[in-house]
Amino acid sequence: MKIYIDGKFYDKDEAKVSVFDHGVLYGDGIFEGIRAYNGRVFRLDDHLKRLADSANAILLKLPLPIPDIEKAVLESVRINGLKDAYIRLVVTRGVGDLGLDMRKCHQGATLFIIADKIELYPDEFYEKGLTLVTSTIRQKGLDQVTPSVKSLNYLANIMARAEATAAGAQEAILLNAQGHVSECSGDNIFFIKDGKIFTPPTSAGILIGVTREVVMELAETKLGIKVIERNFPRYDLYSADEVFLTGTGAEVIAAVRIDGRAIGKGAAGPLTRLLIKHFREYAKSSGTPAYPASPAGAGRPVPAK
Ligand SMILES: Cc1ncc(COP(=O)(O)O)c(C=O)c1O
Repeated sequence: MKIYIDGKFYDKDEAKVSVFDHGVLYGDGIFEGIRAYNGRVFRLDDHLKRLADSANAILLKLPLPIPDIEKAVLESVRINGLKDAYIRLVVTRGVGDLGLDMRKCHQGATLFIIADKIELYPDEFYEKGLTLVTSTIRQKGLDQVTPSVKSLNYLANIMARAEATAAGAQEAILLNAQGHVSECSGDNIFFIKDGKIFTPPTSAGILIGVTREVVMELAETKLGIKVIERNFPRYDLYSADEVFLTGTGAEVIAAVRIDGRAIGKGAAGPLTRLLIKHFREYAKSSGTPAYPASPAGAGRPVPAK
Protein backbone atom coordinates (compact mmCIF):
# COMPACT_ATOMS: atom_id res chain seq x y z
CA MET A 1 0.00 0.00 0.00
CA LYS A 2 1.23 3.49 -0.90
CA ILE A 3 0.17 6.44 1.23
CA TYR A 4 0.26 10.04 0.09
CA ILE A 5 1.73 12.59 2.49
CA ASP A 6 2.35 16.18 1.40
CA GLY A 7 3.15 15.46 -2.22
CA LYS A 8 4.96 12.10 -1.93
CA PHE A 9 3.91 8.48 -1.72
CA TYR A 10 5.31 6.29 1.08
CA ASP A 11 5.10 2.60 1.90
CA LYS A 12 2.68 1.88 4.73
CA ASP A 13 5.46 1.36 7.30
CA GLU A 14 7.19 4.57 6.27
CA ALA A 15 4.05 6.74 6.24
CA LYS A 16 4.38 8.86 9.38
CA VAL A 17 3.43 12.25 10.75
CA SER A 18 5.21 14.13 13.52
CA VAL A 19 4.26 13.69 17.19
CA PHE A 20 4.26 17.52 17.24
CA ASP A 21 1.52 17.69 14.62
CA HIS A 22 -1.50 19.36 16.20
CA GLY A 23 -3.69 16.76 14.54
CA VAL A 24 -2.04 14.24 16.88
CA LEU A 25 -1.69 16.53 19.91
CA TYR A 26 -5.16 18.10 19.81
CA GLY A 27 -7.25 16.45 17.14
CA ASP A 28 -6.82 19.77 15.32
CA GLY A 29 -7.73 18.98 11.74
CA ILE A 30 -10.41 17.74 9.40
CA PHE A 31 -11.04 14.70 7.26
CA GLU A 32 -13.15 13.08 4.58
CA GLY A 33 -14.13 9.46 4.09
CA ILE A 34 -14.71 8.82 0.39
CA ARG A 35 -15.54 5.74 -1.64
CA ALA A 36 -14.55 4.66 -5.10
CA TYR A 37 -16.73 2.24 -7.04
CA ASN A 38 -15.58 0.53 -10.15
CA GLY A 39 -12.54 2.81 -10.58
CA ARG A 40 -14.52 6.01 -10.12
CA VAL A 41 -14.43 8.20 -7.05
CA PHE A 42 -17.96 8.77 -5.81
CA ARG A 43 -19.12 12.36 -5.39
CA LEU A 44 -15.55 13.60 -5.17
CA ASP A 45 -16.60 17.21 -5.83
CA ASP A 46 -19.04 17.10 -2.92
CA HIS A 47 -16.44 15.67 -0.55
CA LEU A 48 -13.86 18.29 -1.57
CA LYS A 49 -16.42 21.06 -1.19
CA ARG A 50 -17.19 19.83 2.33
CA LEU A 51 -13.46 19.62 3.06
CA ALA A 52 -13.04 23.24 1.95
CA ASP A 53 -16.02 24.31 4.07
CA SER A 54 -14.66 22.47 7.12
CA ALA A 55 -11.21 24.04 6.59
CA ASN A 56 -12.72 27.50 6.35
CA ALA A 57 -14.79 26.93 9.50
CA ILE A 58 -11.72 26.03 11.58
CA LEU A 59 -9.43 28.71 10.03
CA LEU A 60 -7.29 26.06 8.36
CA LYS A 61 -5.51 26.93 5.14
CA LEU A 62 -5.53 23.88 2.88
CA PRO A 63 -1.97 23.12 1.76
CA LEU A 64 -3.04 22.71 -1.88
CA PRO A 65 -5.74 24.13 -4.12
CA ILE A 66 -8.78 21.83 -4.44
CA PRO A 67 -7.95 20.70 -8.04
CA ASP A 68 -4.52 19.50 -6.81
CA ILE A 69 -6.11 17.67 -3.86
CA GLU A 70 -8.47 16.05 -6.36
CA LYS A 71 -5.48 14.88 -8.44
CA ALA A 72 -3.80 13.47 -5.32
CA VAL A 73 -6.95 11.51 -4.43
CA LEU A 74 -7.21 10.02 -7.92
CA GLU A 75 -3.50 9.21 -7.96
CA SER A 76 -3.84 7.46 -4.57
CA VAL A 77 -6.49 5.17 -6.02
CA ARG A 78 -4.47 4.51 -9.17
CA ILE A 79 -1.10 3.90 -7.54
CA ASN A 80 -2.69 1.27 -5.30
CA GLY A 81 -4.43 -0.36 -8.28
CA LEU A 82 -7.84 -0.10 -6.57
CA LYS A 83 -11.24 -0.23 -8.24
CA ASP A 84 -13.50 -0.35 -5.18
CA ALA A 85 -11.87 1.62 -2.42
CA TYR A 86 -12.35 3.59 0.76
CA ILE A 87 -10.27 6.74 0.78
CA ARG A 88 -9.38 8.60 3.95
CA LEU A 89 -8.30 12.17 3.29
CA VAL A 90 -6.92 13.97 6.35
CA VAL A 91 -5.70 17.54 6.75
CA THR A 92 -4.09 18.38 10.08
CA ARG A 93 -3.02 21.76 11.41
CA GLY A 94 0.59 20.61 10.99
CA VAL A 95 3.67 20.67 13.19
CA GLY A 96 3.61 23.18 16.05
CA ASP A 97 4.78 23.41 19.64
CA LEU A 98 3.05 21.99 22.69
CA GLY A 99 0.68 24.94 23.01
CA LEU A 100 -2.76 25.49 21.49
CA ASP A 101 -1.73 28.43 19.34
CA MET A 102 -2.30 27.54 15.69
CA ARG A 103 0.04 30.34 14.60
CA LYS A 104 2.95 28.22 15.86
CA CYS A 105 2.27 25.63 13.16
CA HIS A 106 4.63 27.48 10.87
CA GLN A 107 5.06 24.84 8.19
CA GLY A 108 1.35 24.81 7.46
CA ALA A 109 -1.15 21.98 7.21
CA THR A 110 -0.25 18.33 6.64
CA LEU A 111 -2.32 16.44 4.07
CA PHE A 112 -2.36 12.67 3.84
CA ILE A 113 -4.45 10.21 1.88
CA ILE A 114 -4.91 6.51 2.59
CA ALA A 115 -6.66 4.48 -0.12
CA ASP A 116 -7.70 1.07 1.12
CA LYS A 117 -10.56 -1.41 1.02
CA ILE A 118 -13.48 -1.38 3.43
CA GLU A 119 -16.48 -3.53 4.16
CA LEU A 120 -18.26 -1.97 7.08
CA TYR A 121 -21.11 -4.41 7.54
CA PRO A 122 -21.35 -7.94 6.18
CA ASP A 123 -24.03 -8.51 3.50
CA GLU A 124 -26.46 -10.12 5.95
CA PHE A 125 -26.89 -6.78 7.76
CA TYR A 126 -28.29 -5.23 4.57
CA GLU A 127 -30.99 -7.92 4.65
CA LYS A 128 -31.59 -8.14 8.37
CA GLY A 129 -30.98 -4.51 9.32
CA LEU A 130 -29.10 -2.99 12.24
CA THR A 131 -29.85 -2.66 15.93
CA LEU A 132 -29.49 0.84 17.41
CA VAL A 133 -29.45 2.26 20.91
CA THR A 134 -29.70 5.86 22.05
CA SER A 135 -26.39 7.05 23.44
CA THR A 136 -26.14 8.83 26.80
CA ILE A 137 -23.77 11.24 25.02
CA ARG A 138 -25.40 14.36 23.62
CA GLN A 139 -24.58 15.80 20.23
CA LYS A 140 -22.35 18.88 20.33
CA GLY A 141 -24.41 22.09 20.31
CA LEU A 142 -24.43 24.45 17.37
CA ASP A 143 -22.75 27.02 19.61
CA GLN A 144 -19.73 24.71 19.80
CA VAL A 145 -17.68 23.66 16.79
CA THR A 146 -20.73 22.55 14.85
CA PRO A 147 -21.10 18.84 14.01
CA SER A 148 -21.28 19.97 10.37
CA VAL A 149 -17.48 20.40 10.51
CA LYS A 150 -15.93 17.01 9.81
CA SER A 151 -13.20 17.51 12.37
CA LEU A 152 -10.69 15.06 13.80
CA ASN A 153 -12.46 15.31 17.19
CA TYR A 154 -14.43 12.05 17.08
CA LEU A 155 -14.13 11.04 20.71
CA ALA A 156 -17.81 11.63 21.51
CA ASN A 157 -18.79 9.52 18.49
CA ILE A 158 -16.31 6.81 19.48
CA MET A 159 -17.67 6.68 23.04
CA ALA A 160 -21.24 6.58 21.70
CA ARG A 161 -20.28 3.68 19.42
CA ALA A 162 -18.71 1.90 22.41
CA GLU A 163 -22.05 2.21 24.23
CA ALA A 164 -23.76 0.63 21.24
CA THR A 165 -21.26 -2.22 21.20
CA ALA A 166 -21.68 -2.78 24.95
CA ALA A 167 -25.45 -3.03 24.38
CA GLY A 168 -25.01 -5.54 21.54
CA ALA A 169 -26.05 -2.94 18.94
CA GLN A 170 -24.23 -1.76 15.82
CA GLU A 171 -24.91 1.98 15.98
CA ALA A 172 -25.76 4.68 18.51
CA ILE A 173 -28.23 7.54 18.08
CA LEU A 174 -27.10 10.94 19.35
CA LEU A 175 -29.79 13.28 20.65
CA ASN A 176 -29.07 16.99 20.76
CA ALA A 177 -29.47 19.19 23.84
CA GLN A 178 -33.17 19.69 22.98
CA GLY A 179 -33.75 15.93 22.93
CA HIS A 180 -34.21 15.84 19.17
CA VAL A 181 -32.61 13.08 17.14
CA SER A 182 -29.52 14.39 15.35
CA GLU A 183 -27.60 11.53 13.76
CA CYS A 184 -25.72 8.34 14.57
CA SER A 185 -22.07 8.02 15.55
CA GLY A 186 -20.99 7.62 11.92
CA ASP A 187 -24.19 7.92 9.85
CA ASN A 188 -27.16 10.17 9.13
CA ILE A 189 -30.60 8.88 10.04
CA PHE A 190 -33.97 8.84 8.25
CA PHE A 191 -37.41 7.44 9.00
CA ILE A 192 -40.36 6.61 6.78
CA LYS A 193 -43.96 7.06 7.90
CA ASP A 194 -47.07 6.72 5.74
CA GLY A 195 -45.01 6.91 2.55
CA LYS A 196 -43.13 10.06 3.56
CA ILE A 197 -39.42 10.27 4.35
CA PHE A 198 -38.08 12.41 7.19
CA THR A 199 -34.58 13.36 8.35
CA PRO A 200 -33.20 15.87 10.87
CA PRO A 201 -32.25 19.29 9.45
CA THR A 202 -28.77 20.81 9.65
CA SER A 203 -29.97 22.81 12.66
CA ALA A 204 -30.41 19.56 14.62
CA GLY A 205 -26.60 19.32 14.65
CA ILE A 206 -25.58 16.91 11.93
CA LEU A 207 -22.78 16.25 9.54
CA ILE A 208 -24.28 17.16 6.16
CA GLY A 209 -23.64 13.72 4.75
CA VAL A 210 -22.77 13.26 1.10
CA THR A 211 -24.74 9.99 1.11
CA ARG A 212 -27.64 11.81 2.80
CA GLU A 213 -27.76 14.29 -0.09
CA VAL A 214 -27.57 11.49 -2.68
CA VAL A 215 -30.41 9.57 -0.99
CA MET A 216 -32.55 12.70 -0.83
CA GLU A 217 -32.04 13.16 -4.59
CA LEU A 218 -32.73 9.49 -5.33
CA ALA A 219 -35.88 9.49 -3.18
CA GLU A 220 -37.14 12.42 -5.16
CA THR A 221 -36.12 11.31 -8.66
CA LYS A 222 -36.53 7.51 -8.42
CA LEU A 223 -39.31 7.12 -5.85
CA GLY A 224 -41.04 10.44 -6.41
CA ILE A 225 -40.95 11.14 -2.66
CA LYS A 226 -39.71 14.42 -1.29
CA VAL A 227 -37.68 14.14 1.90
CA ILE A 228 -38.92 16.36 4.72
CA GLU A 229 -36.22 17.86 6.95
CA ARG A 230 -37.61 18.51 10.41
CA ASN A 231 -36.78 18.03 14.06
CA PHE A 232 -38.23 14.96 15.71
CA PRO A 233 -37.97 13.01 18.97
CA ARG A 234 -37.10 9.34 19.38
CA TYR A 235 -40.81 8.54 19.50
CA ASP A 236 -41.00 9.16 15.74
CA LEU A 237 -38.35 6.51 15.19
CA TYR A 238 -40.10 4.01 17.47
CA SER A 239 -43.39 4.49 15.63
CA ALA A 240 -41.91 4.67 12.12
CA ASP A 241 -42.71 2.20 9.33
CA GLU A 242 -39.02 2.05 8.42
CA VAL A 243 -35.77 3.57 9.65
CA PHE A 244 -32.56 3.67 7.68
CA LEU A 245 -29.08 5.13 7.97
CA THR A 246 -26.80 6.62 5.33
CA GLY A 247 -23.03 7.07 5.27
CA THR A 248 -20.07 6.61 3.01
CA GLY A 249 -19.05 3.46 4.88
CA ALA A 250 -22.50 1.94 5.52
CA GLU A 251 -24.06 3.33 2.29
CA VAL A 252 -27.83 2.84 2.85
CA ILE A 253 -28.83 0.36 5.53
CA ALA A 254 -31.98 -0.39 7.51
CA ALA A 255 -32.29 -0.08 11.28
CA VAL A 256 -34.83 -2.59 12.55
CA ARG A 257 -34.47 -2.45 16.33
CA ILE A 258 -34.07 0.71 18.42
CA ASP A 259 -33.73 0.74 22.21
CA GLY A 260 -35.27 -2.73 22.42
CA ARG A 261 -38.26 -1.92 20.17
CA ALA A 262 -38.85 -3.54 16.80
CA ILE A 263 -39.29 -0.95 14.03
CA GLY A 264 -42.05 -1.59 11.53
CA LYS A 265 -42.02 -5.29 10.70
CA GLY A 266 -38.57 -5.78 12.27
CA ALA A 267 -36.79 -6.30 8.94
CA ALA A 268 -35.50 -4.05 6.15
CA GLY A 269 -38.68 -2.47 4.73
CA PRO A 270 -39.72 -2.10 1.07
CA LEU A 271 -38.79 1.56 0.57
CA THR A 272 -35.42 1.10 2.27
CA ARG A 273 -34.72 -1.89 0.00
CA LEU A 274 -35.60 0.18 -3.04
CA LEU A 275 -33.30 2.99 -1.92
CA ILE A 276 -30.48 0.50 -1.33
CA LYS A 277 -30.98 -0.82 -4.87
CA HIS A 278 -31.07 2.62 -6.48
CA PHE A 279 -28.10 3.79 -4.45
CA ARG A 280 -26.00 0.81 -5.52
CA GLU A 281 -26.92 1.25 -9.17
CA TYR A 282 -26.15 4.95 -9.06
CA ALA A 283 -22.87 4.49 -7.14
CA LYS A 284 -21.57 2.01 -9.71
CA SER A 285 -22.37 4.24 -12.67
CA SER A 286 -21.19 7.65 -11.55
CA GLY A 287 -18.11 9.35 -10.15
CA THR A 288 -14.79 10.84 -11.21
CA PRO A 289 -12.67 8.30 -13.12
CA ALA A 290 -9.35 7.46 -11.47
CA TYR A 291 -8.13 5.62 -14.57
CA PRO A 292 -7.96 6.80 -18.17
CA ALA A 293 -10.78 5.53 -20.36
CA SER A 294 -9.87 2.49 -22.47
CA PRO A 295 -9.68 3.13 -26.24
CA ALA A 296 -12.71 0.92 -26.88
CA GLY A 297 -14.76 3.22 -24.72
CA ALA A 298 -15.20 0.68 -21.94
CA GLY A 299 -15.20 2.45 -18.61
CA ARG A 300 -16.07 5.65 -20.42
CA PRO A 301 -15.81 8.55 -17.96
CA VAL A 302 -19.07 9.64 -16.46
CA PRO A 303 -18.94 13.14 -15.07
CA ALA A 304 -19.12 13.39 -11.30
CA LYS A 305 -22.45 14.81 -10.29
C1 LIG B 1 -21.01 11.72 12.38
C2 LIG B 1 -21.31 11.36 10.97
N1 LIG B 1 -22.52 11.62 10.45
C3 LIG B 1 -22.83 11.31 9.18
C4 LIG B 1 -21.93 10.70 8.35
C5 LIG B 1 -22.30 10.39 6.92
O1 LIG B 1 -21.66 11.27 6.04
P1 LIG B 1 -21.25 10.81 4.56
O2 LIG B 1 -22.48 10.31 3.91
O3 LIG B 1 -20.71 12.04 3.92
O4 LIG B 1 -20.23 9.75 4.71
C6 LIG B 1 -20.66 10.39 8.84
C7 LIG B 1 -19.69 9.71 7.98
O5 LIG B 1 -18.73 10.20 7.59
C8 LIG B 1 -20.33 10.74 10.17
O6 LIG B 1 -19.12 10.48 10.67
